[in-house]
Amino acid sequence: MSATITSFSSAQHYLQLEDQYGAHNYHPIPVVLSRGKGVHVWDVEGKQYYDFLSGYSAINQGHCHPRLLAALIEQAQQLTLTSRAFHSNLLGEYAQYICTLFGYDKVLPMNTGVEAVETGIKLCRRWAYRVKGIKENQAQIIVCEGNFHGRTSTVISFSTDPSSRNDFGPYMPGFISIPFNDLDALAKALDNKNVAGFLAEPIQGEAGVLVPDDGYLARAKQLCKDANVLFIADEIQTGLARTGKMLACDHEEVRPDILLLGKALSGGLLPVSAVLADDEIMLTIQPGDHGSTYGGNPLACKVAMESLQVLLDEGMAENAAAMGTLLRQELAALQSPFISLIRGKGLLNAIVIKHEDPEAAWHLCLELKENGLLAKPIHGDKIRFAPPLLITATQIKDCVSIVAKSLEKLKT
Ligand SMILES: Cc1ncc(COP(=O)(O)O)c(C=O)c1O
Repeated sequence: MSATITSFSSAQHYLQLEDQYGAHNYHPIPVVLSRGKGVHVWDVEGKQYYDFLSGYSAINQGHCHPRLLAALIEQAQQLTLTSRAFHSNLLGEYAQYICTLFGYDKVLPMNTGVEAVETGIKLCRRWAYRVKGIKENQAQIIVCEGNFHGRTSTVISFSTDPSSRNDFGPYMPGFISIPFNDLDALAKALDNKNVAGFLAEPIQGEAGVLVPDDGYLARAKQLCKDANVLFIADEIQTGLARTGKMLACDHEEVRPDILLLGKALSGGLLPVSAVLADDEIMLTIQPGDHGSTYGGNPLACKVAMESLQVLLDEGMAENAAAMGTLLRQELAALQSPFISLIRGKGLLNAIVIKHEDPEAAWHLCLELKENGLLAKPIHGDKIRFAPPLLITATQIKDCVSIVAKSLEKLKT
């Protein structure tokens, strides 16, 4: 057995193993990574790449950040999991830290992003029945077309993406879908007295980094407030300094009623998510009503605190704002006939590819890989550019020259 592994110690070996034994639920760029540090990753053959995906924005702090590793290792040697049957010496400290940082009464800790979304939905419904006074099982939550909030059966029930949704029914009722960035549609939907919440991504990441009009979030929040409806912000991808502020909602000084965080809350070390809300909402859930074996475990608490503190100490929001502006400027300066649009905020960006070949974005990503930069197409013609937030101006310029070189390939 070991002889076989040694003789196949190339990328091909790992690709074959995954293909044979792993479910085919992803279509990755064919690169096999074995190491990461800061903005870089290396493949099994030792080739270095810039990471322009950052684990779908989980690795805002950069790969294997030394402070996060130190926190993880130290805590792993002390205590990793108590379950919530017992208290730990870290949950209270973490809860105080994150609530103080974001200005909420309470936090409910979970693991993956989609669990935070599920928790937000459950909290919103509880609040609807127990505080707002909506009749049993009548609560509705408004969502946006093109949303991406994860892949559980409830969450795909209100997805408009056929590949996430089709043939996974029956679907969970209780959701009203409206176009994103459409305040008139929101105002109309809010006329329904059974509406309890409005769930939205401040920027739609998986839809191709769709940035709404200036003022959209602030106006949406006001409309919700006027209708006594909870504004639920899914900042799992947009949050934690990615867009140039700690939260994307901060750009419009909007305070969500329920805030959902995940991904970079652990800087890519383990799944950590969080739901933040005030007591009027959070205390509608009582012991036994909701939970998770790993949610709030000491290892996660320790790493999450360090992840947030690293973002603050290293000025990552400010760097994301500055480097994002530079990235978009440098990309625009290429004046490539194959880039029809460059959009984004901070270091959450996308380019839209214009080419007669519908597979051009995929081919460009393969060429970027050859030239030392990893990115992935979204919805066929878009490519997200979202490097770790510690990237420097010199590195941004280097990356744009890789993009320029790779675009040449589209001419042939
Ligand atoms: C906005 C948003 N919400 C929720 C999720 C789901 O997070 P997870 O994959 O950790 O369940 C994602 C993942 O990409 C996301 O981008």
